[in-house]
Amino acid sequence: MWAVLRNPKAWLALLCLLPLLRLIVLGATDGLGANPIEFITRSTGTWTLTGLLLTLSVTPLRRLSGRADLLRYRRMLGLFSFFYAGLHFVTYVWLDQFFDPAAIAKDIVKRPFITVGFTAFVLLIPLAATSTHAMMRRLGRRWQQLHRLVYLIALLGVTHYLWLVKKDLTVPLIYGGVLALLLATRLPWGVNALKAARTVRAGLIPRE
Ligand code: HEM
Repeated sequence: MWAVLRNPKAWLALLCLLPLLRLIVLGATDGLGANPIEFITRSTGTWTLTGLLLTLSVTPLRRLSGRADLLRYRRMLGLFSFFYAGLHFVTYVWLDQFFDPAAIAKDIVKRPFITVGFTAFVLLIPLAATSTHAMMRRLGRRWQQLHRLVYLIALLGVTHYLWLVKKDLTVPLIYGGVLALLLATRLPWGVNALKAARTVRAGLIPRE
Protein backbone atom coordinates (compact mmCIF):
# COMPACT_ATOMS: atom_id res chain seq x y z
CA MET A 1 0.00 0.00 0.00
CA TRP A 2 2.72 2.50 1.05
CA ALA A 3 4.81 1.48 -1.95
CA VAL A 4 1.87 2.48 -4.20
CA LEU A 5 1.54 5.86 -2.45
CA ARG A 6 5.26 6.52 -2.92
CA ASN A 7 5.01 5.79 -6.65
CA PRO A 8 4.63 9.02 -8.70
CA LYS A 9 3.15 6.99 -11.55
CA ALA A 10 0.30 5.87 -9.28
CA TRP A 11 -0.38 9.53 -8.37
CA LEU A 12 -0.36 10.50 -12.02
CA ALA A 13 -2.81 7.68 -12.82
CA LEU A 14 -5.11 8.91 -10.04
CA LEU A 15 -4.85 12.47 -11.33
CA CYS A 16 -5.71 11.32 -14.85
CA LEU A 17 -8.80 9.53 -13.52
CA LEU A 18 -10.16 12.69 -11.85
CA PRO A 19 -12.07 13.97 -14.94
CA LEU A 20 -13.85 10.61 -15.14
CA LEU A 21 -14.55 10.64 -11.42
CA ARG A 22 -15.98 14.15 -11.76
CA LEU A 23 -18.35 12.98 -14.51
CA ILE A 24 -19.46 10.00 -12.39
CA VAL A 25 -20.10 12.20 -9.32
CA LEU A 26 -21.93 14.85 -11.39
CA GLY A 27 -23.94 12.11 -13.11
CA ALA A 28 -24.95 10.58 -9.79
CA THR A 29 -25.97 13.94 -8.33
CA ASP A 30 -27.90 15.35 -11.31
CA GLY A 31 -25.10 17.82 -11.93
CA LEU A 32 -24.57 17.34 -15.67
CA GLY A 33 -26.85 20.26 -16.58
CA ALA A 34 -29.75 20.48 -19.00
CA ASN A 35 -27.92 18.51 -21.73
CA PRO A 36 -25.92 15.69 -20.08
CA ILE A 37 -24.84 14.13 -23.41
CA GLU A 38 -23.35 17.42 -24.58
CA PHE A 39 -21.67 17.89 -21.19
CA ILE A 40 -20.05 14.42 -21.32
CA THR A 41 -19.04 14.80 -24.99
CA ARG A 42 -17.44 18.18 -24.33
CA SER A 43 -15.70 17.10 -21.17
CA THR A 44 -14.22 13.90 -22.67
CA GLY A 45 -13.22 15.81 -25.85
CA THR A 46 -11.48 18.49 -23.80
CA TRP A 47 -9.55 15.90 -21.76
CA THR A 48 -8.53 13.99 -24.88
CA LEU A 49 -6.99 17.13 -26.34
CA THR A 50 -5.47 18.25 -23.03
CA GLY A 51 -3.99 14.75 -22.60
CA LEU A 52 -2.46 14.90 -26.07
CA LEU A 53 -0.85 18.27 -25.36
CA LEU A 54 0.45 17.05 -21.98
CA THR A 55 1.92 13.99 -23.72
CA LEU A 56 3.64 16.27 -26.24
CA SER A 57 5.04 18.49 -23.49
CA VAL A 58 7.07 15.67 -21.89
CA THR A 59 9.95 15.77 -24.41
CA PRO A 60 10.50 19.57 -24.23
CA LEU A 61 10.28 19.42 -20.43
CA ARG A 62 12.85 16.61 -20.40
CA ARG A 63 15.17 18.66 -22.64
CA LEU A 64 14.71 21.73 -20.45
CA SER A 65 15.22 19.96 -17.14
CA GLY A 66 17.66 17.26 -18.23
CA ARG A 67 15.52 14.74 -16.35
CA ALA A 68 15.39 11.60 -18.49
CA ASP A 69 13.03 9.94 -15.99
CA LEU A 70 10.18 12.20 -17.19
CA LEU A 71 9.86 9.91 -20.21
CA ARG A 72 8.33 7.31 -17.87
CA TYR A 73 5.18 9.40 -17.70
CA ARG A 74 4.77 9.99 -21.43
CA ARG A 75 3.26 6.59 -22.20
CA MET A 76 0.76 6.86 -19.35
CA LEU A 77 -0.36 10.33 -20.48
CA GLY A 78 -0.72 9.09 -24.06
CA LEU A 79 -2.79 6.10 -22.96
CA PHE A 80 -5.05 8.30 -20.86
CA SER A 81 -5.66 10.53 -23.91
CA PHE A 82 -6.67 7.40 -25.78
CA PHE A 83 -8.89 6.35 -22.88
CA TYR A 84 -10.73 9.71 -22.93
CA ALA A 85 -10.90 9.61 -26.75
CA GLY A 86 -12.55 6.18 -26.40
CA LEU A 87 -15.08 7.57 -23.90
CA HIS A 88 -15.68 10.57 -26.20
CA PHE A 89 -16.29 8.27 -29.16
CA VAL A 90 -18.49 5.86 -27.18
CA THR A 91 -20.58 8.80 -25.88
CA TYR A 92 -21.14 9.89 -29.47
CA VAL A 93 -21.86 6.40 -30.84
CA TRP A 94 -24.05 5.33 -27.94
CA LEU A 95 -25.80 8.37 -26.46
CA ASP A 96 -25.78 10.64 -29.52
CA GLN A 97 -26.30 8.17 -32.40
CA PHE A 98 -27.89 5.20 -30.54
CA PHE A 99 -25.50 2.67 -32.16
CA ASP A 100 -27.00 3.34 -35.60
CA PRO A 101 -24.19 2.45 -38.08
CA ALA A 102 -25.95 4.12 -41.04
CA ALA A 103 -26.48 7.39 -39.13
CA ILE A 104 -22.87 7.32 -37.85
CA ALA A 105 -21.42 6.68 -41.33
CA LYS A 106 -23.59 9.47 -42.79
CA ASP A 107 -22.53 11.88 -40.05
CA ILE A 108 -18.81 11.06 -40.52
CA VAL A 109 -19.12 11.80 -44.24
CA LYS A 110 -21.43 14.83 -43.97
CA ARG A 111 -20.05 16.85 -41.05
CA PRO A 112 -16.39 17.80 -41.59
CA PHE A 113 -15.65 18.26 -37.88
CA ILE A 114 -16.82 14.68 -37.24
CA THR A 115 -14.70 13.43 -40.20
CA VAL A 116 -11.62 15.10 -38.71
CA GLY A 117 -12.32 13.88 -35.14
CA PHE A 118 -12.98 10.36 -36.36
CA THR A 119 -9.72 10.34 -38.37
CA ALA A 120 -7.81 11.46 -35.27
CA PHE A 121 -9.42 8.69 -33.21
CA VAL A 122 -8.67 5.98 -35.81
CA LEU A 123 -5.03 7.14 -35.98
CA LEU A 124 -4.74 6.93 -32.19
CA ILE A 125 -5.58 3.20 -32.22
CA PRO A 126 -2.26 1.92 -33.69
CA LEU A 127 -0.35 4.18 -31.28
CA ALA A 128 -2.18 2.76 -28.27
CA ALA A 129 -1.80 -0.79 -29.62
CA THR A 130 1.98 -0.40 -29.99
CA SER A 131 2.61 1.43 -26.73
CA THR A 132 4.12 -1.54 -24.88
CA HIS A 133 7.88 -2.00 -24.38
CA ALA A 134 7.66 -5.30 -26.27
CA MET A 135 6.17 -3.52 -29.32
CA MET A 136 8.77 -0.77 -29.01
CA ARG A 137 11.57 -3.37 -29.21
CA ARG A 138 9.85 -5.31 -31.98
CA LEU A 139 9.29 -2.28 -34.23
CA GLY A 140 12.66 -0.62 -33.57
CA ARG A 141 13.09 2.55 -35.65
CA ARG A 142 9.66 2.06 -37.18
CA TRP A 143 8.12 2.57 -33.72
CA GLN A 144 9.40 6.13 -33.61
CA GLN A 145 8.24 6.81 -37.16
CA LEU A 146 4.77 5.45 -36.35
CA HIS A 147 4.50 7.43 -33.14
CA ARG A 148 5.25 10.68 -34.98
CA LEU A 149 1.59 10.39 -36.00
CA VAL A 150 0.80 11.98 -32.64
CA TYR A 151 1.69 15.39 -34.15
CA LEU A 152 -0.89 14.91 -36.90
CA ILE A 153 -3.45 13.59 -34.39
CA ALA A 154 -3.05 16.67 -32.18
CA LEU A 155 -3.36 18.93 -35.26
CA LEU A 156 -6.54 17.09 -36.27
CA GLY A 157 -7.82 17.43 -32.68
CA VAL A 158 -7.36 21.21 -32.74
CA THR A 159 -8.90 21.42 -36.25
CA HIS A 160 -11.88 19.35 -35.04
CA TYR A 161 -12.35 21.78 -32.14
CA LEU A 162 -11.95 24.91 -34.30
CA TRP A 163 -14.45 23.51 -36.80
CA LEU A 164 -17.15 22.63 -34.29
CA VAL A 165 -17.11 25.91 -32.38
CA LYS A 166 -19.65 28.29 -33.82
CA LYS A 167 -18.92 31.69 -32.26
CA ASP A 168 -16.06 32.31 -29.84
CA LEU A 169 -12.86 30.72 -31.15
CA THR A 170 -10.73 31.82 -28.17
CA VAL A 171 -10.40 28.46 -26.39
CA PRO A 172 -9.63 26.32 -29.48
CA LEU A 173 -7.16 29.00 -30.59
CA ILE A 174 -5.42 28.76 -27.19
CA TYR A 175 -5.13 24.99 -27.68
CA GLY A 176 -3.79 25.66 -31.19
CA GLY A 177 -1.24 28.14 -29.83
CA VAL A 178 0.00 25.68 -27.20
CA LEU A 179 0.27 22.97 -29.86
CA ALA A 180 2.21 25.32 -32.19
CA LEU A 181 4.64 26.08 -29.35
CA LEU A 182 5.10 22.39 -28.54
CA LEU A 183 5.72 21.59 -32.20
CA ALA A 184 8.19 24.50 -32.47
CA THR A 185 10.28 22.97 -29.67
CA ARG A 186 10.87 19.99 -31.99
CA LEU A 187 12.36 22.17 -34.76
CA PRO A 188 16.16 22.69 -34.76
CA TRP A 189 15.93 26.27 -33.43
CA GLY A 190 13.44 25.16 -30.80
CA VAL A 191 15.77 22.40 -29.62
CA ASN A 192 18.65 24.94 -29.49
CA ALA A 193 16.53 27.40 -27.50
CA LEU A 194 15.71 24.67 -24.96
CA LYS A 195 19.41 23.75 -24.72
CA ALA A 196 20.33 27.40 -24.13
CA ALA A 197 17.63 27.76 -21.47
CA ARG A 198 18.90 24.62 -19.79
CA THR A 199 22.47 25.95 -19.74
CA VAL A 200 21.27 29.19 -18.13
CA ARG A 201 19.24 27.22 -15.63
CA ALA A 202 22.22 24.96 -14.81
CA GLY A 203 24.31 28.12 -14.18
CA LEU A 204 21.68 29.60 -11.89
CA ILE A 205 21.08 26.39 -9.97
CA PRO A 206 24.45 24.83 -9.07
CA ARG A 207 24.47 21.04 -9.25
CA GLU A 208 24.74 19.19 -5.93
C1 HEM B 1 -8.42 12.58 -30.95
C2 HEM B 1 -9.71 12.69 -31.21
C3 HEM B 1 -10.60 13.79 -30.72
C4 HEM B 1 -10.33 14.93 -30.01
C5 HEM B 1 -8.98 15.43 -29.52
C6 HEM B 1 -11.59 15.61 -29.80
C7 HEM B 1 -11.73 16.81 -29.12
C8 HEM B 1 -12.92 17.47 -28.92
C9 HEM B 1 -13.07 18.73 -28.26
C10 HEM B 1 -11.92 19.53 -27.63
C11 HEM B 1 -14.39 19.05 -28.26
C12 HEM B 1 -15.03 20.35 -27.75
C13 HEM B 1 -15.17 20.39 -26.28
C14 HEM B 1 -15.84 21.69 -25.82
O1 HEM B 1 -16.73 22.20 -26.51
O2 HEM B 1 -15.47 22.16 -24.74
C15 HEM B 1 -15.09 18.00 -28.95
C16 HEM B 1 -16.45 17.98 -29.16
C17 HEM B 1 -17.10 17.02 -29.89
N1 HEM B 1 -16.52 15.94 -30.52
FE1 HEM B 1 -14.57 15.41 -30.45
N2 HEM B 1 -12.59 14.88 -30.39
C18 HEM B 1 -12.04 13.78 -30.96
C19 HEM B 1 -12.69 12.78 -31.65
C20 HEM B 1 -14.04 12.77 -31.90
C21 HEM B 1 -14.75 11.71 -32.58
C22 HEM B 1 -14.13 10.42 -33.07
C23 HEM B 1 -16.06 12.08 -32.63
C24 HEM B 1 -17.20 11.35 -33.25
C25 HEM B 1 -17.12 10.55 -34.26
C26 HEM B 1 -16.20 13.36 -32.00
C27 HEM B 1 -17.36 14.06 -31.85
C28 HEM B 1 -17.53 15.21 -31.14
C29 HEM B 1 -18.80 15.88 -30.91
C30 HEM B 1 -20.16 15.42 -31.43
C31 HEM B 1 -18.52 17.01 -30.13
C32 HEM B 1 -19.55 18.02 -29.58
C33 HEM B 1 -19.88 19.05 -30.59
C34 HEM B 1 -20.84 20.09 -30.04
O3 HEM B 1 -20.79 20.41 -28.86
O4 HEM B 1 -21.61 20.58 -30.84
N3 HEM B 1 -14.94 13.76 -31.56
N4 HEM B 1 -14.17 17.05 -29.34
